[in-house]
Amino acid sequence: MVLDVYLADHLVGKLRETQMHEYELEVLDHSKAISNQFIGIENPIPFDICGPFFENILPEDKRKAKICKALEVHKKDDFNLLSKIGRETAGAISVVHEGAKPNILDTPDLNTLTHQELIDKAKGDIAGIKFKTRISLAGAQAKASIVLNDRDLPETEETKTTAFPIYTCENRSLSNFIIKPEVNPDLPHSVDNEYFCMTLAREVGIDAADVYKCFLHGEKGLIPALLIKRFDRYETEGQVRPYHMEDLCQILGLSPDYKYQEYSAVTGNDTGPGISNLVNITKKGKNVIHGIQQIIKLVIFNYIVENQDAHGKNFSFIYKDEDKFEFAPAYDLISTCLYDEMNEDLAMHIGGEYNPAIVGKDHFQKMCKETKLGFSSFKKEAEKMIGTLKPLIEETQKTKGKATAERKIAEVMAMRCYHLSQEFGFDFDFNWDEDIKSNAFLNPQIDG
Ligand SMILES: Nc1ncnc2c1ncn2[C@@H]1O[C@H](COP(=O)(O)OP(=O)(O)O)[C@@H](O)[C@H]1O
Ligand SMILES: [Mg+2]
Repeated sequence: MVLDVYLADHLVGKLRETQMHEYELEVLDHSKAISNQFIGIENPIPFDICGPFFENILPEDKRKAKICKALEVHKKDDFNLLSKIGRETAGAISVVHEGAKPNILDTPDLNTLTHQELIDKAKGDIAGIKFKTRISLAGAQAKASIVLNDRDLPETEETKTTAFPIYTCENRSLSNFIIKPEVNPDLPHSVDNEYFCMTLAREVGIDAADVYKCFLHGEKGLIPALLIKRFDRYETEGQVRPYHMEDLCQILGLSPDYKYQEYSAVTGNDTGPGISNLVNITKKGKNVIHGIQQIIKLVIFNYIVENQDAHGKNFSFIYKDEDKFEFAPAYDLISTCLYDEMNEDLAMHIGGEYNPAIVGKDHFQKMCKETKLGFSSFKKEAEKMIGTLKPLIEETQKTKGKATAERKIAEVMAMRCYHLSQEFGFDFDFNWDEDIKSNAFLNPQIDG
């Protein structure tokens, strides 16, 4: 079997199966950047180089396993899975059967799904759905790509009473929103969590995807869901077009299995993508100053909100200019403080330290040195961010009940802001009804 690889509507390559579960890529159009990893590699691009790129556009973990089962594909057979769900992906890559057309423009070709069908599809339970998925999005959480007109965006409360129509586009046109229904019992309050973090990120000047809360009318009742506007789509003359993207794992040629940075006692080195990779890659692209500022803000923000899941697949590079990438807007910002079972290590070390409770001034200083970022501007940004977050944290404390996700996250944020202020020597004066300074979380270096 041969698969055609399109970048938007340009045929750029052919994927050929070579042996069991392996394939190679013949690049047809060298003028279009598919992956930074392919530059200078002669045709055909071997599996060890093109494999990680394509593996990274597929779903992950249990969701991948469910989809493979429903489509009767072996879980290691990415080639076959790409042939079934590679038609629309994050970015502009489209993988279709040889001779078939990718999802492009012309006439919108929409399917209507019931909310329950959408929920099942998002979970990967696609066996009984009339429109099987042909769309692949990375990540382990339940999600689907849908089509929504900005002007038809329903108000959150409205969606409780009215089941707004859900459209998907399996055949020709492109989706412009991602929807993540809250269906994972291990991640309660995921919608409030991601909505709160994404909204706060925008408040502190991080260019983060637009998000909206809504409710889906499932068979078992109302299910909260997060609507996320895709920044890899733009509209021209009423048609949705894609921008190409690569996540940090793709751009480094790493399989999604290595998305978390980790210390290896065997080699004595850190494996997986880290902050220095983010900075170095950003410097090779366009809009470098903006990109670096965004990274600095995200490092501080993720530390403050306790986002221990900011791994290599949660950062991307977008090609708005066909062959030059830039640091993409932020997405998938959550606080992992709500989930006890999640790994407590940072997804990327800060100055060599993975334990967030130990991270202090020295680690930030070391991180700045390693990445050639100025520590004084880093400190200034931290001070500014804490100043912006302070009233928002206080407001959350006043308006949200104690058992809410927002209140718990705000509490953690207050503690971390206090910790950073102490470390960096800023004035700190929080109005919090409990004494956060006595909280056990705090770094022993501060209080004792
Ligand atoms: N707003 C967005 N615009 C374009 N692509 C996005 C956006 N948000 C997420 N993605 C893509 O979808 C993938 C999965 O989304 P993500 O929110 O990270 O899901 P998960 O919580 O399962 O990790 C991301 O890795 C990224 O490639
Ligand atoms: Mg993610």
